[in-house]
Amino acid sequence: MANKSQNWILMATAQTPTNIAVIKYWGKRDETLILPINDSISVTLDPDHLCTTTTVAVSRSFEKDRMWLNGKEISLSGGRYQSCLREIRSRANDVEDEERGIHILKQDWEKLHVHIASYNNFPTAAGLASSAAGFACLVFALAKLMNVKEDQGKLSAIARQGSGSACRSLYGGFVKWVMGNDVNGSDSVAVQLANDTHWDDLVIIVAVVSSRQKETSSTTGMRESVETSALLYHRSKEVVPKRILQMEEAIQNRDFPSFAQLACADSNQFHAVCLDTCPPIFYMNDTSHRQVLIISYIEKWNRSEGTPQFIRVGKESMLNVGTKVSYWMFYVLGDKSILQDAGIEAMKDVEALPPPPEIKGNIPSQKYKGDVSYFICTRPGRGPVLLADESLALLHPKTGMPK
Ligand code: DP6
Repeated sequence: MANKSQNWILMATAQTPTNIAVIKYWGKRDETLILPINDSISVTLDPDHLCTTTTVAVSRSFEKDRMWLNGKEISLSGGRYQSCLREIRSRANDVEDEERGIHILKQDWEKLHVHIASYNNFPTAAGLASSAAGFACLVFALAKLMNVKEDQGKLSAIARQGSGSACRSLYGGFVKWVMGNDVNGSDSVAVQLANDTHWDDLVIIVAVVSSRQKETSSTTGMRESVETSALLYHRSKEVVPKRILQMEEAIQNRDFPSFAQLACADSNQFHAVCLDTCPPIFYMNDTSHRQVLIISYIEKWNRSEGTPQFIRVGKESMLNVGTKVSYWMFYVLGDKSILQDAGIEAMKDVEALPPPPEIKGNIPSQKYKGDVSYFICTRPGRGPVLLADESLALLHPKTGMPK
């Protein structure tokens, strides 16, 4: 490396959405490469409401790779971080900035250390796929910093090695994670089914029933399901392949009744697999009475509508019921008008809960008088973007430390 100045810090900042599965990924055929036993489909959620922002920086003065998540330093020693860093580094290219005297050669990236700062604009413990947005953002930002020329599909296969669901956050709109066949995972990638403008009157309302971390992590839970659930085997072989085709068709045709019916059936089967696991996983029971109440409301809505659409007032909308369903009392994130349009004020008899610790001090000003504590009102959104405005960086441009 021949640099005019040794004090340079080169940075890139990206913003990446989270996603919510409507046909769920549950079960791996390879734990290290994170290869699934079935295809899955998700909707990318609008990053204006829920997203991860990540700044990555490189400098000759950095002594080791370091990462801060929501302001706290975390270890990068885990296999999943190491896989993503290794895969991205191996695809890095030369980077030149004549003006700043920066000349990084392809082979230099193996020796250079990075600093990473990541921030979720939603509570990590709410179970809202923070790992999906997080690993997608890490991989996307590092790829930009290191001048990686691979397309989004290839990047999705790297993000997948951080967390399976992360591969779907490399695209906006409606996304399929193709399980693939290769033993090395090269064809286990995300593909976009439709972009975020395809179905612009679809809204998504996530009712957050608990901000507590799930008692069984997805990783452990799905491993136990693979080992013990005969229903999961049947699901992956017989049910999901047909459902994937039906869901793709429902999305292409913007057929809301089919879309909602398939998503609901899939979510229920996912919970059935959890119960069929030994020992059983009670995602539904973690917040039992509140979730049951929400489900009974959904059933009531369904019956009154006569079709499987959960809520349909003005705009087409859907209340998802899955592990990622979660809520806080009275508070609304995202676009409140979506909730009002959906007529949520019908829910009256849930006891108020205090706001979860993560949002204390940062409680959204919109206080909603109703029963469900916290709704996230959102819609399909765009994929990852690079933030050119340096003032949005999470690392200090002079020190490379968190701001
Ligand atoms: C229920 O992607 O969090 O949300 O690959 O082990 O990191 P790992 O699991 P993760 O699992 C998500 C499971 C799910 C369904 C889905 O998002 O498809």
